[in-house]
Amino acid sequence: MEEAKLRQLLNSLTIEEKIGQLVQLSGEFYNASDISMGPQRKLGITQRMVDLSGSVLNVAGARQIHRLQEAHLAKGGHAIPLLFMSDIVYGYKTVYPIPLGMGASWDPALIKKAYENAAEEAYAGGQQVAFAPMVDLVHDARWGRVLESTGEDPYLNAQFAKAMVGGFQSGLKNGKGIVSCVKHFAGYGAVEAGREYNSADMSISNLYQDYLPSYKAAVQAGAKMVMTSLTTLNGVPATADKWLLSDLLRKQWGFNGVVISDYASIYELTQHGFAADEQDAAYKALDAGVDIDMKSPCYANGLKPLLADGRLSEKKIDAAVWRVLSLKNELCLFEDPFRGSSEALEKANLLTPAKRQLARRVSQEAMVLLKNQRHLLPLDRSSHHQVALIGPYADEYKMLGLWAIHGDPKDTITFKQGVGEYLDASRLTVEKGTDIIRDADFFAESGRPEDQANSQISDSATEKKHHDSAIAAAKRADIIIFAGGEHTLQSGEAGSRTKLRLPDNQQRLLDELATLGKPVISVIISGRPLVLTDVLADSDAVIQAWFPGIEGGHALADIIFGAYNPSGRLSMSMPAVEGQAPIYYNHLSTGRPEKTSQHVGRFVSRYTDAPTGPLFPFGYGLSYGEVTYHQPTIDQSQISSAQSVTISVPVENAGDIDRTETIQLYLHDEVASIVQPVKRLIDFKREVIPAGKTVTVSFEVKAQQLGFYNQRGEYVIEPGKFELMVGPNSDETQAVEFSLKD
Ligand code: NOJ
Repeated sequence: MEEAKLRQLLNSLTIEEKIGQLVQLSGEFYNASDISMGPQRKLGITQRMVDLSGSVLNVAGARQIHRLQEAHLAKGGHAIPLLFMSDIVYGYKTVYPIPLGMGASWDPALIKKAYENAAEEAYAGGQQVAFAPMVDLVHDARWGRVLESTGEDPYLNAQFAKAMVGGFQSGLKNGKGIVSCVKHFAGYGAVEAGREYNSADMSISNLYQDYLPSYKAAVQAGAKMVMTSLTTLNGVPATADKWLLSDLLRKQWGFNGVVISDYASIYELTQHGFAADEQDAAYKALDAGVDIDMKSPCYANGLKPLLADGRLSEKKIDAAVWRVLSLKNELCLFEDPFRGSSEALEKANLLTPAKRQLARRVSQEAMVLLKNQRHLLPLDRSSHHQVALIGPYADEYKMLGLWAIHGDPKDTITFKQGVGEYLDASRLTVEKGTDIIRDADFFAESGRPEDQANSQISDSATEKKHHDSAIAAAKRADIIIFAGGEHTLQSGEAGSRTKLRLPDNQQRLLDELATLGKPVISVIISGRPLVLTDVLADSDAVIQAWFPGIEGGHALADIIFGAYNPSGRLSMSMPAVEGQAPIYYNHLSTGRPEKTSQHVGRFVSRYTDAPTGPLFPFGYGLSYGEVTYHQPTIDQSQISSAQSVTISVPVENAGDIDRTETIQLYLHDEVASIVQPVKRLIDFKREVIPAGKTVTVSFEVKAQQLGFYNQRGEYVIEPGKFELMVGPNSDETQAVEFSLKD
């Protein structure tokens, strides 16, 4: 529709019709099956407002979406099509590994393709907006939503943010694809103590330096929507933060798309004690810059009285409605309210072999080999070993993670199926050994009927049978593969934990398996970095598989039997004990650093009862074969602000197998007006290093990359000495020095 006509449409709307465009409701309001996750309460809004609402949350499938859209349009009046929005966080039907696994791929180009595929599936099914990517930077493995993040590094996260937004939206130019709604703006990943929905507090320099870059990258990549965070940032709820939503996002970054609240977060302003009542909450959110109210009664009931009181101007409401109508118009909904979606298109596009193939690749790249003693892996499939695959994830298809709400776990290739494609049935025994978790209270709290204990906890006789069969199988085998990890409900939204270990029953089983004197390979499923000290002690090899997506079984078997040489590198540090959290590699230099302090003994920055460093650092991961990073060189020792330096490092593969290395480049500013991180990632390259070859990898670093954000949020570059550090992970780096002239 032409802009002038759209203006006419806006001007012809009644105030109720306008407000309706700013209200988003979930499926149950339209007699549709509802897959939203969040607290339920009676909203107390009128049927008229339901009829006028402008968008729908988490209703899936072309058939349902068509039915709702048709019924809505048949109501007459201005018949403005509904916008269908949904959580398509890491895949639609073809579910990929969780984003924390995608982060470990260090391969944004591949992830972009995955999001293109997800968009193609979702578009076919009638979805128009994905509530993703979630680009919150994370430091604290206690927080369940680290599952949805690509990790702890601002630079790496920004690359993924760009890739994911680009993937979702790349079809838009051809009238396909879906809109990306980046979330949760801003700082949700910094919730204190890793406790869900808690507050976040940080300095301005920290906010700009670490937390904002990924949102900014998403906005610069063209994300057409932004979702606010449920939490407070420096004392102000993000959903009513005028500085954040209007000054920074719209004015400084030039964002002109639609801002939506998170689920009920406008109503929750009253719970925060930031708004006196729902009407006050509506005022504060709209005034701050929130266009759409997701699943709360505040806009539906509060905006009209605010207008009548003169507290709010119609101009302000019009501006928000205009943005919503413009988005609908951009998607050509006025011409085709279904955007070409259909059940037939769905059938043709969902879970195609090519899409599954890509999911297998993402899953391979996401898995991280943490330990491989005496080169136990890869296994030689042609040897005559007997393999016992044991553990609650040995043959479990529910390994998609909490946010795969559109995926069907039954589409998953289990580990048993994957390994079974490499090994003859006579050489493979599969035993569950124990349940994933044996704690009835845990399930009681989940609140979902399908997750109740009785369907998940075996009675003690069955449990004993599982255990005894597993031990017997292990005794007969030459090699044990243990597959264990977190239950789906232990991570994801509202999945904060203080104990980050394997459930006790699983650890006991693994301990027992380890006493049998056979080689043990442990495969860990989780939505977060767990504390794996006990697992490492029991195992000769360990693979961190995350929630690996529907192709997890294939990917794991490909790695175990060497069809894929593991290349994953952690994008989040793995703590050695829970008490270290939050732990991350790019922390500031302290005055009393543990290793390089001139002070001796007690008075340095460390714990008295645990190591200071992580179990595995950011960037860490093993591959098969051997590589050596030789001494890096730099082409200049001094540059001016208009120049750049090039650092080069020869990487030698002395082994007999090709491998993919992620060569990581870190920077340290030696003296600055704000204390700088000990190192921070500024670039990386994923390169295949062929067997027997040395590849020299170079990075050009421009003076412009040497700056940091000060306490006013300004990017400043200060002359002086810098170190460039290059290596296979954030810990094992070699440094060269140069300086930037005045
Ligand atoms: C709440 C979550 O915080 C958000 O990520 C999600 O998009 C909405 N619910 C909608 O399901």
